Amino acid sequence: MTTATDGSTCFKQRTEAILSELDATGQLKHLQTIEGAMGPSITLRGYGEVDCFCSNNYLGLANHPDVVTAGIEGLQRYGAGTASVRFICGTFEPHERLESTIAEMLGVEASYTFVSCWTASEALFPTLCDPGDIIISDALNHACIIDGMRLATVIKKGVQKAVYRHSDMTDLRRVLEEARASEAVTGVMWVVTDGVFSMEGDLGNLPEIRALCDEFGAMLVVDDSHGTGVMGETGRGTHEYWGMKGSDIDLFTGTLGKALGGGAGGYIAGSRAAIDLIVQRGRPTLFSNALPVTVACSATKAIEILMSEPERVAKLRSNVAAARAGIRDVGFEVLESPTAICPIIVGETATAISMSNRLLEAGVFAIGFGYPVVPEGEARIRVQISAAHESQHIHRLVEALRVLKSES
Ligand SMILES: Cc1ncc(COP(=O)(O)O)c(C=O)c1O
Repeated sequence: MTTATDGSTCFKQRTEAILSELDATGQLKHLQTIEGAMGPSITLRGYGEVDCFCSNNYLGLANHPDVVTAGIEGLQRYGAGTASVRFICGTFEPHERLESTIAEMLGVEASYTFVSCWTASEALFPTLCDPGDIIISDALNHACIIDGMRLATVIKKGVQKAVYRHSDMTDLRRVLEEARASEAVTGVMWVVTDGVFSMEGDLGNLPEIRALCDEFGAMLVVDDSHGTGVMGETGRGTHEYWGMKGSDIDLFTGTLGKALGGGAGGYIAGSRAAIDLIVQRGRPTLFSNALPVTVACSATKAIEILMSEPERVAKLRSNVAAARAGIRDVGFEVLESPTAICPIIVGETATAISMSNRLLEAGVFAIGFGYPVVPEGEARIRVQISAAHESQHIHRLVEALRVLKSES
């Protein structure tokens, strides 16, 4: 009993210390409460109606009537779920349909879904890598890739990992050369990159990475969570933007929690053999339940809308161009790229937080990110554009930024 008491006292003290430190340094996060559906404008508790520029609802499908109806009909027909993992109780038809729809959208052989892209990433490398393999990652890859790599090295002892400087192809070549020369690397070399980097809003240079992978015989994995539904003429993703086919990428990971309906869920997509191995050996596939069937139905409908209404992607593109031009016109520096993520660099963390608060008071919801999420001195307001925004939303964003600029 003494130990248990000591343990709880110790835990309480250290937890309180961490929380107070976060509070004292202005890093404590306060969750906002949304009273209604996600859309270009939302109702935030305590603030009323505000224009939303911090959601990944890139195509405006989160509250599309057909997406909502598909989820309701799925719930009515299939109930909440199988109350089991898929290899024991089986797969609902909507999961099969969703997985073939994802494969069709990306132009690859097969896909398998998970409750999140985070889980998909934790399934991918630990399942597909063997001792003697090396995973080579862009320095700014998403946290789920980093943790998936770490997990692979723990679950399969002898899997190596290495990092190259962000989007630096000379450095990627150096790492590949070192890997080729290493005695510890006897198996597959994997290169993994985000398609669209979530904090910078810039693109992975997929053609050059592909060329290096071909030269070194490496496999290419792309997490296109912010690119699918957004990039390329028809929104197929960052590979389409670069004029590549889905089959030019060995494996995709992606989320259903952003452009593709915005509920939740993730996937791995690629060759039939890779997906079959994930089904047989993936720990999240063997020991964890499926994506809720309602979400599977909604996500399939969202992808069908994406594929049948390319005008949504075109509208998103013109909204992005208008927002980027407006932000620059006001005098703010926005990191240049064609993506829907527009980071406005403001310098200090405290500046980003106070600007974000001032924007919210002016009815514009855009979040400030500071150290340690981004490098010190590069704190930013991250503005995210949606096809659901109309010109008046973008006008209000730009005017609110203009007021902030005049005060600075
Ligand atoms: C690049 C990237 N990958 C993966 C994820 C995780 O997606 P999910 O919410 O489906 O786990 C995110 C979410 O922020 C992301 O930005």
